[in-house]
Amino acid sequence: MYKLSAIREPVVIHKGLDNVYVKESRICYIDGEASKLFYRGYSIEELASHSTFEETTYLLIYGWLPTHSQLDQITRQLELHRTLEPQFLDLIRKFPAKSDPMDVLRTAVSALALYDPQPMTDDITDKTDKALAILAKVPTIIAAFHRLRTGNNPIPPKGNLSHAAEFLYMLTGRDPDPYDAHVMDVALILHAEHEMNASTFACTVTASTLADMYSVLTSGIGTLRGPLHGGANEAALKTVLEVGNPGNAESYVVDALAHKRRIMGFGHRVYKTWDPRYLILKKLAGELAQKKNQAKLFDTAVAIETSARKHLEGTTIFPNVDSYSGIVFHMLGIETDLFTPIFAMSRISGWTAHAIEYLEANRLIRPKALYVGKLGLPYTPIETRSGKAPE
Ligand code: ACO
Repeated sequence: MYKLSAIREPVVIHKGLDNVYVKESRICYIDGEASKLFYRGYSIEELASHSTFEETTYLLIYGWLPTHSQLDQITRQLELHRTLEPQFLDLIRKFPAKSDPMDVLRTAVSALALYDPQPMTDDITDKTDKALAILAKVPTIIAAFHRLRTGNNPIPPKGNLSHAAEFLYMLTGRDPDPYDAHVMDVALILHAEHEMNASTFACTVTASTLADMYSVLTSGIGTLRGPLHGGANEAALKTVLEVGNPGNAESYVVDALAHKRRIMGFGHRVYKTWDPRYLILKKLAGELAQKKNQAKLFDTAVAIETSARKHLEGTTIFPNVDSYSGIVFHMLGIETDLFTPIFAMSRISGWTAHAIEYLEANRLIRPKALYVGKLGLPYTPIETRSGKAPE
């Protein structure tokens, strides 16, 4: 009988690939002990205070802060590609109105390849341009689907607005309040990149096969869809809405922890202290709450946070980016099921940057699985099979 050949080197199984490095990178650095996040060497605080999503996208993908003309160029490129072809819009019209917007986005980004006469290319510049064209269209796709499912006609981009403002404009048909557009812009910067997380790894695996950028970014959207990755912002908002007012926060937290339920928007695989993005979003949420008369919502979130921190004192469970992002999007008037698509809309910058960086020194990603099953089993006729796995 055939026997398993002896494995020469010692086998270490890295379930979840924890602490496995797949490449050297110059894109993102996280210090989870010190509450630090850098894109291309610039701190997230600096970028949130001074940059724009367009500029941050350029920085992530090309590696440096753009000059005036480089920024003009990427801005024009996004403007040029933001509009959806009528044929493509007709496709979105055919999607069932009840579809989850993440399913719509994943399907639509994949379908964009059908309208590109040459989706496959080996040229890195062409790949980057195709990714930017997809990035440009994603807000238009999300907004168009949302309008259609609510019985409204899609609104084409206005032109001369920022990526963030165009999205808000295409959702509502109204010029967004400049402060709202600023908040959306900062939220996009904060979600644009986060090192080798699950969706970025999925994009990198697909890129390493030399697949087209539609396939690469579709892999990222599919991976972000899972509740262990995107989606916690929706759950955090739901908690705040359910708790209802600051006075209920303490009993909610005590009960949740007693029953081993997780407080959404808390804890992180990498951050063992404050998530620096949380600090930025909390400040914006407080300002928005004042402007929008939503003090109760914000105060409830703060009360949950205060109570959770008190009961989790001595642990490494701190608030993460999702503790206030959902509240911010909610106060901007955005439907809850659009939060994860907005995350994707922003993260396409980071996915593209990593895919391109990996391709510059590509090696097909092909890990191994340690076989622990049987070998050399006799093929049995269907009449004599037991219907279960052999002992
Ligand atoms: N509330 C209460 N307890 C928690 C929480 C939480 N939010 N997070 C972790 N814990 C506890 C766990 O119950 C576990 O306790 P135990 O050892 O007594 O069983 C311990 O902390 C370790 O939990 P792990 O899941 O192993 O920790 P890990 O660091 O892998 O978890 C994760 C990270 C998945 C994000 C987790 O903290 C969580 O589920 N948080 C809630 C969901 C959330 O906010 N996700 C958003 C993350 S940010 C992002 O993805 C953009």
